Amino acid sequence: MLYRVKYFYKAIKNGFTSLRTECEVISPLRLLRCARNNADDVYKYNKNAFQLIGCVLILCQTFYSCSDKKKPINYADDIAPIIHKNCSKCHIDGEAGPFNLLTYQDVKSKAKLIAYITENRIMPPWPADASYTHFANEMVLSNEQIETIKTWVEQGAIAGDTSKLERPEILKRELRLGKADIIIRFPEKIKVTGNNMDMFLVCKLPYELPKDTFVRAIEYVAGNKRLVHHVNVHLIQFEDRKKRNVIEGKNWVNQDQSNSQTIHKELGILHDDGTYPAMSPSVCNYLPGSQFSFYPKEIGGYKLSKKGALYLNDMHFGPSPKDDIDSSYFKIYFSPTPPKRPVQEFQMGTLGIAPVEPKLVVQPETVKSFHIKADIPEDISVLTIVPHMHLIGKKFWAYAIKPSGDTIRLVRINNWDFRWQYFYQPKTMLHIPRGSTIYVEGLYDNTSNNPNNPFSPPQVIMERNGSMKTTDEMFQLIMTYVPYQKGDEEISIENIEP
Ligand code: HEC
Repeated sequence: MLYRVKYFYKAIKNGFTSLRTECEVISPLRLLRCARNNADDVYKYNKNAFQLIGCVLILCQTFYSCSDKKKPINYADDIAPIIHKNCSKCHIDGEAGPFNLLTYQDVKSKAKLIAYITENRIMPPWPADASYTHFANEMVLSNEQIETIKTWVEQGAIAGDTSKLERPEILKRELRLGKADIIIRFPEKIKVTGNNMDMFLVCKLPYELPKDTFVRAIEYVAGNKRLVHHVNVHLIQFEDRKKRNVIEGKNWVNQDQSNSQTIHKELGILHDDGTYPAMSPSVCNYLPGSQFSFYPKEIGGYKLSKKGALYLNDMHFGPSPKDDIDSSYFKIYFSPTPPKRPVQEFQMGTLGIAPVEPKLVVQPETVKSFHIKADIPEDISVLTIVPHMHLIGKKFWAYAIKPSGDTIRLVRINNWDFRWQYFYQPKTMLHIPRGSTIYVEGLYDNTSNNPNNPFSPPQVIMERNGSMKTTDEMFQLIMTYVPYQKGDEEISIENIEP
């Protein structure tokens, strides 16, 4: 209601721009007042006109308020569309949300909490500053949507005609992405010991197909979303003749247990003659909170040899106070055609192509900023932007400066939250021209005022030889991209069908 009236004012206000009434008009009284203050002369000449407009607007507002009263906000018409689009994908069995938000009952039973949590923009979780850049996978409610939820709760959380809504079983099915062609699982569940320590595994999930094929995408489905911290997945392509039994070897071993050669032998990822098979790197990645989506058609994809394995060189489980289990799995989506434009990746900062400066060491009770800078030697089209820090990260800001001096905004996070790390997807493929420089700035807060500080009292926290332990720090910008082709800027990354 307010929105429409506001627009009406705007239209009227614009009609008066020639009379220089420059003020933000948000209520009929203000319109009159600002007309008085800012455009006294105009007001004198147009007194009657203004009074008339004022009356009309007040009438409008009354009319809209009345119609509001007649038809209170109800779940079926007004609330369900907001919840199903912005909340249900996580608040559904098997996802990270602690309860379901699918039906009227689900939402009503949490109505007050939902009003609070949306008004304070705690949910949906989206740490990136939406006033800096918008993304295809953005999860941000508009002010109007937040207001609607609030009013609905104040008016008694009315149901409306819920019979016309999709049944929850259908929603559950539809919220899942397309049906995978094959699913690859661990043969048994992984046990996580409740010792409050990080656990790093190296894993192999072998498979055998009737023939070589191509894949469009590989999706990791985290079993225990509270524990799995990150997963980097590579694809081992065995040569048929050189590997008789793909199943042989263990499915996982502890990463810190022995050196990598021993680990590879134990897992059985070598050919029978002791040679290493080919490997496609980084075919799938996961970070806390991240959601899978497809790349545009003809972008990405891999060859999948008849005999192969998914290789997880570090599967990281965060510290857990109690024994628990994980049953993560992979969904593989085939493609009828070979990959045309394979996706590549680069990483700046910790373990990356450009160092963190100065060295990432944060003394106790200090707040310190760091930066990373890298030149881009070729024209690229960026598909995802992934900021990464650990617990004491506070702010993250990345942008590129083109050779022309113009800035390309990448991402800004004003309140880093370790729990929500996304693969930010620009709305269309983002061209960064050759000769540009990417700048990344990060702020770390190692004081006792930081509620996320893992140590009390604070201790020195730093980057340790690329250690990924949650209580050590990292500072990275990871981007996936393809070499630029003319017209890439037009290719949308939003709502891509499987
Ligand atoms: C990306 C996944 C995701 C999305 C999208 C999401 N949530 Fe959540 N939500 C979570 C997780 C995970 C938690 C548990 C948070 C925690 O343990 O810190 C949670 C917690 C909550 C809580 C309980 C908070 C508390 O303090 O008890 C409410 C209420 C909630 N979400 C409502 C919503 C609503 C409403 C939306 C949509 C407007 C939404 N969520 C969207 C993942 C999500």
